[in-house]
Amino acid sequence: MGGSMDGEMRQKAWLEPSVARMEAAPAPLAPRLADAAALHAESAAEIPDYLREVYSWAYLHPTFALLLDRQPVVEAILWGNARRLIARVLAEVQPGWRVLQPAAVYGTFSRQLAVALGPTGRLDVSDIAPLQVALTRRKLADLRQARVDLRDAASPPRSRYDAVTCFFLLHEVPDPMKSRIVAALLGAVRPGGKAVFVDYHRPRPAHLLRPFMDLIFARLEPFARALWHHAIADYAGPLGAGFDWRKETLFGDLYQVVVATRR
Ligand SMILES: C[S@@+](CC[C@H](N)C(=O)[O-])C[C@H]1O[C@@H](n2cnc3c(N)ncnc32)[C@H](O)[C@@H]1O
Repeated sequence: MGGSMDGEMRQKAWLEPSVARMEAAPAPLAPRLADAAALHAESAAEIPDYLREVYSWAYLHPTFALLLDRQPVVEAILWGNARRLIARVLAEVQPGWRVLQPAAVYGTFSRQLAVALGPTGRLDVSDIAPLQVALTRRKLADLRQARVDLRDAASPPRSRYDAVTCFFLLHEVPDPMKSRIVAALLGAVRPGGKAVFVDYHRPRPAHLLRPFMDLIFARLEPFARALWHHAIADYAGPLGAGFDWRKETLFGDLYQVVVATRR
């Protein structure tokens, strides 16, 4: 896999501060960083600009990642709705299924999903950030049905999956990337299988948190508000017509669960 010259320079730029942090890191952090640095060195996948420029603190910085990768933190960020939203995803899959999770999720989401699929199932988790791949591999190390790879969600494996579960990824990517990801993920679903998208949605006008969420989205989540104006099906392209779409909103419409079942 060969990267462009520009890509190689970006990789180096990412790697050097990480290696420096690794040398200075406390013992439990060092192996994770070593895994991440090795993964990055052997891969041509590039960290996209939007991730580097907007979310570097959340997903590329080892210390922050370790602080955030805890279920109580995820529960707090989702205003106490994480358990309910995860339960919606788990209700859509069956033991023995082959499922793709195209981006890492902090906390227990991937473990819960892998356990729901059971030893006869298979969970393929991927993420574009080496650090997230390393953290997720460690979280799932004892579950033989789970596998974690470095990969762009817009280029899923060629296999056909029983289900694809996209949990709070779309609001973190620019609109053209939303379209690429949704279309690619739908393409990875087998006939009769489903894609499950969980993400933000436009809250009701009288929602008590609306002014606060306005502020958060303006300051920290510049690509999220597009989901207030567009349905996830709008990003599907022509492939979307081959799916039956079902949408549920929760918590005063602040969150949406969209299930697209392939005919
Ligand atoms: C699923 S989203 C947000 C999840 C949620 N905020 C949480 O972790 O609780 C976060 C992940 O998406 C990853 N990501 C962003 N763009 C991606 C892409 N194009 N392909 C794969 N992973 C991507 C980031 O590296 C990050 O690990």
